[in-house]
Amino acid sequence: MDTVFAELTEEVIARMRGASPRLREVMTLLVRHLHSFVREAALTQEEWQTGVEFLTRTGQICSDSRQEFILLSDILGVSMLVDAIGHQSGEGITDSTVLGPFYAGPQRELAKGDSILLREEDGEPLVMTGRVADANGKPVAGARVEVWQTATNQLYDVQDENQPHGHLRATFTTDAHGEYAFRTILPVSYPIPDDGPAGQLLRGLGRHPFRPAHVHFMISAPSYRKLVTHLFLKGDKYLESDAVFGVKPSLVVQPVRQDGTLTVAYDFGLARVQEA
Ligand code: BEZ
Ligand code: FE
Repeated sequence: MDTVFAELTEEVIARMRGASPRLREVMTLLVRHLHSFVREAALTQEEWQTGVEFLTRTGQICSDSRQEFILLSDILGVSMLVDAIGHQSGEGITDSTVLGPFYAGPQRELAKGDSILLREEDGEPLVMTGRVADANGKPVAGARVEVWQTATNQLYDVQDENQPHGHLRATFTTDAHGEYAFRTILPVSYPIPDDGPAGQLLRGLGRHPFRPAHVHFMISAPSYRKLVTHLFLKGDKYLESDAVFGVKPSLVVQPVRQDGTLTVAYDFGLARVQEA
C-alpha cells in the first residue's frame, strides 16, 4: 500500500513539468507535505469532507473588508513564519511582526505631536515618541511612520460604523533628527474577528481569540526595507498567548509618566535595502 501512495505522490509531481521553476518547486513541496499529512493522519473521507466544507465557509465569508484566509494563516502561526523568513534582523534593526487585516492604506498626514483621535475616547491619554534610525543609529529624516490601533471598544474604525473613518490612524513624517511623536490613548487588548471559521477553529482547539494591547507601526523610507511592527504594553495578560503569535520581547514597552502624561519612548531601526 505504501508503494502505491508513494507512486501517486510522484505521479502528481511529475505532471508539473510545464510549470515555471519556482511554481514547480513550491508546488512539489506542497504536494509532498500535503500527501504526507493525509497519510500520517490517516484522514477519513468524512474528515476530508469536513475540511473541504471548512475551507468553503472560509472563502464564503471573505469580502472586501474581511479576509478570513489571512486570519487562518495568523492563528496557525504561518504569517509569523513568512514574516520571519522575509524580515532582515540584526543589531540595530527593529523586530517585525504581523501586518494583520486592519491596515487601511495611507491615512491623513499629521504633524509631529498631533493627536490621531478624531473623536473623544475614554482611554488614558498616551504620548508616543522616538526616533527612526538606520542600523548604525544614524537618524532617518523624512521616513513615513504610519500608525493604527483600536478604540477603547476593542474595534478598529473599519470594523465599527460608529467611529469616524480614519479614527486612531495617521501618517507622520520624521523630522530632520529622525524623530516622530504623536498623541493617542493607551491601546486595549481585543479579540480578532471570531464569528467565522477562524473563531470556530480557535474554539475547537480550546484557544481564546485575544491579542494583547498594541499600536501598529509601518515605517518606510527610500533605500530602507519597510518595517511592519507593533509596540505591545508590558503587563498585558495576553502577552504569552497572543492569538496570532505576534509578540516579541523587544517590542514590549512600559509607559512612564512624564509631566503627568503616560509616555512611551521607542526608537526604531531600519535595515538598508542592500543589507537584505
Ligand atoms: C491586528 O493586530 O490588527 C490583527 C492581526 C492578526 C489578525 C487579526 C488582527
Ligand atoms: Fe491590531
